[in-house]
Amino acid sequence: MQAAILGAGVIGCGWAARFLLHGWDVIVYDADPAAPGRMSQTLDQARFSLTQLYDAELPSEGQLNHAASVTEAVANADWIQESIPELLSIKRDLYLAIQDALPAGTPLASSTSGFKPTDLASDLSCADQMLVCHPFNPVYLLPVVEVVAGQRTHQQTVNKAIEILTDIGMKPVTVRREIDAHIADRLLEALWREALWLVADDVATTQEIDEVMRNGFGLRWAQMGLFETYRIAGGDAGMQHFLAQFGPALAWPWSKLTDVPELTAELVDKIAAQSDAQSGHLSIAELERQRDKNLVAIIRALKDTNSGAGEHVNAVEAMLHNGRADRS
Ligand SMILES: NC(=O)c1ccc[n+]([C@@H]2O[C@H](COP(=O)([O-])OP(=O)(O)OC[C@H]3O[C@@H](n4cnc5c(N)ncnc54)[C@H](O)[C@@H]3O)[C@@H](O)[C@H]2O)c1
Repeated sequence: MQAAILGAGVIGCGWAARFLLHGWDVIVYDADPAAPGRMSQTLDQARFSLTQLYDAELPSEGQLNHAASVTEAVANADWIQESIPELLSIKRDLYLAIQDALPAGTPLASSTSGFKPTDLASDLSCADQMLVCHPFNPVYLLPVVEVVAGQRTHQQTVNKAIEILTDIGMKPVTVRREIDAHIADRLLEALWREALWLVADDVATTQEIDEVMRNGFGLRWAQMGLFETYRIAGGDAGMQHFLAQFGPALAWPWSKLTDVPELTAELVDKIAAQSDAQSGHLSIAELERQRDKNLVAIIRALKDTNSGAGEHVNAVEAMLHNGRADRS
């Protein structure tokens, strides 16, 4: 099986590493001369961390190739993943450039964080093969992927996508209705906006906000999410009591809701300076290694209680064991 990865930045390299380590061949297209270097750095990092996540042997690693043109990349692909910058016009131009070379039945998936598949595919004759598969960074470690169909996406495309994403160890979550920014980025943007206000209004620094998250609710979210956590917060009376107690606060309101802070040069400088003071002593590569080590440790702890992402990783391990038994 071969996956074509179009765009080898942060997300494209992560996808390529995930496919390769689950036994797929990968062909990458990105005209940036720095792309192959970025790809091999991400692959090294993924090899190191993914093998520590599973108590099961991964399939033999697939072959990595780089294509000279986008049509060469997609010609024999069983999966196409577009991960180029978040601009509607350049994404549409890329799809138009490949639609005549697209193999029949091959899903064309976009990593877009915010666009709806119907808008991405508006000019395409192959809209039935197009959908959004929105992953999370680092793609090779975090299991979830939001699967979003457009108005013209064929159900067979969605079914095939779910089958393939499951095969590479992911946890596909089908979004019931296409909306801007799907599920996760809706939630994250609300939080991000509030965090920007807190810095802009001098209520907290970037470091203080991160301390509150990582010593508090961030720890809860990884294992129970939002609703299960709040159910417990309601005590024995559960969610009904929680909503009765905190419901009125929603109307006060505690947040700035959809008020958007203006990213003036002054605010950008302030946030960047605070972030440098907080983390500038570490390179991005060092931060990525620290992040991956912690993610592996957290997911491994969740495996022991078969909860959160640990439950999913246990299921992938069972699949890997079965796969090995089938091959032997
Ligand atoms: N960064 C994240 O955390 C994240 C998470 C989920 C989804 N996404 C989405 O993934 C997509 C890519 O984001 P990213 O953060 O990897 O961006 P990035 O800037 O790191 O990488 C984009 C890559 O695309 C290449 N590129 C540009 N035009 C191209 C073209 N026409 N053909 C082939 N390659 C081309 C660039 O050279 C670059 O390497 C975006 O749609 C973004 O919304 C990002």
